[in-house]
Amino acid sequence: MKIQSKAIHTGDRKRGGPHVPITTPIHTASSYFYESMEQLDRVFGGEEQGYCYARYDNPSTAALEEVVTALENGHGSLACGSGMAALHMALITALADRRKSIVAADALYGATVSLLMNVLEPTGVSVRFVDVCDLEALRSAVAEARPGCILIESISNPLLRVGQIDRIAEIARQAGAALVVDNTFATPLLVRPLELGAHFSVHSLTKYLAGHGDVMGGVVITDAEHFEPLRALARTVGPVLGPFESYLTMRGIKTFPLRMERQCGNACRVASWLSTHTKVERVYFTGDPSHPDAAAIRRLFPANLYGAMISFELKGAGRDEIFGFMDRLRMIVRATSLGDVHSMMLYPVMSSHRDISPRHRERMGIRDSLVRLSVGIEAAEDIIEDLDQAFAGRGAG
Ligand SMILES: Cc1ncc(COP(=O)(O)O)c(C=O)c1O
Repeated sequence: MKIQSKAIHTGDRKRGGPHVPITTPIHTASSYFYESMEQLDRVFGGEEQGYCYARYDNPSTAALEEVVTALENGHGSLACGSGMAALHMALITALADRRKSIVAADALYGATVSLLMNVLEPTGVSVRFVDVCDLEALRSAVAEARPGCILIESISNPLLRVGQIDRIAEIARQAGAALVVDNTFATPLLVRPLELGAHFSVHSLTKYLAGHGDVMGGVVITDAEHFEPLRALARTVGPVLGPFESYLTMRGIKTFPLRMERQCGNACRVASWLSTHTKVERVYFTGDPSHPDAAAIRRLFPANLYGAMISFELKGAGRDEIFGFMDRLRMIVRATSLGDVHSMMLYPVMSSHRDISPRHRERMGIRDSLVRLSVGIEAAEDIIEDLDQAFAGRGAG
């Protein structure tokens, strides 16, 4: 099946009795009852399929994991309570039997930088940041740091850089490192990291996959080698996603390809309008032919699907001008998150990258004049009109 059909059919109608519901219900039970201790023993031992305790497995979450695994063409997956929990699980599993050293992209979501520097480094994991779009720089960082893991985002947050996942996977493989790819911005409609040699693909389900601004969740999709260690770790530390969130996410996934196609189309129109606006200093968009990673994007992404995130700098703007501009938005939602049906704007310096030191942010290229727009499924004309009236107001740039 193609991704559009998998998104609708995979996972459902597997876990019913004689009357099979067409969509997977919300299974709220924390434990499961069997007629005999013998049978429960077999389920506990994995000799018979079944569920015994919701920290290990839950039918609603298992259905979600099945569809996400299919979308990414992985071996199996683990749904977690947030994207950060999923990323943490992927990194711990990746490092379990490898050197405690990570080479990470120098362009990453702010909380991911905190996870590396404030959570993992103090436990003895060494972390080194490098521009992963520069393969020579990556090769020498890997030769020096001899990492157990390389961590990248398929489209980086918020400056939208795109590394060559297949070539980075080759560098990882030669060094005996695992490649972990945060695929939240690109989604499996644009790129499936495991097909390109990555060992783990991670999503914040909160974003495009669930898509409606009403779920917090994350998922790790992995290969046959890492699947059992990942599940075993999860059984012990318990980062599981609840059944209600799993249900909502599955419901969202059925329209994910449709939504994403529409969002990508809208983003092309909005980015091209922004690039001609006199109050805009610079537009960052993966569909821009002069994007620094245009060759990788052409090679790795399907034609005409470039993602639906746009970042842009307002000419001469600082915090006050940005606040004024964003306060004037009437339809685009001022909020932290992305990937929802509604367009949303965020100020990275204040939210996604707030906890990073100004010097580190400067090195990452995140300026005080930068805003990030997640383009929704509204009419593109309305998004443009809203931006236009917000630019036209007093004090915008
Ligand atoms: C690229 C990326 N990865 C991971 C996350 C974390 O996801 P969550 O908020 O679901 O923990 C985010 C959140 O914004 C993100 O932008």
